[in-house]
Amino acid sequence: MSKSMKRLLMYTGVILIASVAYTIYAFNTLPAAVERETFLSELGEGFGEVAMYALGFIYLRTLLKLLMGKGPLSKRLLPSYTPPPQANMLKKFIVFLDRTHVHVGIASVAIIVIHTVLMGDPMRNLFFPAILILVAWQTVFGLFLRWRTAPRDLKKVSFSVHAQLVTGVMMGIFAYFGHVLVD
Ligand code: HEM
Ligand code: HEM
Repeated sequence: MSKSMKRLLMYTGVILIASVAYTIYAFNTLPAAVERETFLSELGEGFGEVAMYALGFIYLRTLLKLLMGKGPLSKRLLPSYTPPPQANMLKKFIVFLDRTHVHVGIASVAIIVIHTVLMGDPMRNLFFPAILILVAWQTVFGLFLRWRTAPRDLKKVSFSVHAQLVTGVMMGIFAYFGHVLVD
């Protein structure tokens, strides 16, 4: 296993343990959530489900690249990239994912925001505002990456803090435990 993979796993473990600890603490101190079954909250749950699939779709690309041995951060395919003629189906699929990422990314952010607004009260536990901060982080640095005339250094920094799995691990774990707490 590569060194960076080991570090990511260790990091995931630490976040997991901290989240379980906070979940137990919050479960015992926060007032029980009142279940509201309004039309808007039902609609909001639908958006939550779509958000889950959208994020899964985004990280599927990274996973596929990892499985293909390209390394998570290497071989980033730029918009100008065209597949070599012998590209197989999987490669073509990855090129498709690369080309559509910005649109899928923006759509995901919008869906998460709509979900949050429809569910109301994003401060019910600390996981929810944390998720929103991470989503804002991905959005801001994603936009810097697409900003064509941005300074080189800003692009470099944006790439290293946007195209990585650390925020994804946190979003996944925080969303899971945040929803365990309201369920
Ligand atoms: C990564 C972002 C998020 C994803 C993928 C997500 C996903 C989901 C899903 C799939 C459900 C439906 C669960 C069910 O049908 O029982 C749900 C429900 C809910 N979500 Fe989210 N969510 C996200 C962020 C947030 C945030 C930031 C808030 C803060 C307001 C939030 C608040 C809620 C609430 C209150 C429910 C209702 C839970 C229940 O009554 O069972 N979600 N979410
Ligand atoms: C929650 C939303 C988002 C998530 C989770 C996310 C995640 C990622 C990840 C994991 C990568 C690296 C992909 C790889 O392994 O090859 C990446 C790359 C990138 N993202 Fe996002 N992203 C999001 C939103 C956005 C938005 C809104 C934009 C632009 C407005 C954007 C622009 C880019 C660009 C330009 C790259 C580098 C080129 C590429 O790999 O396609 N992202 N993103």
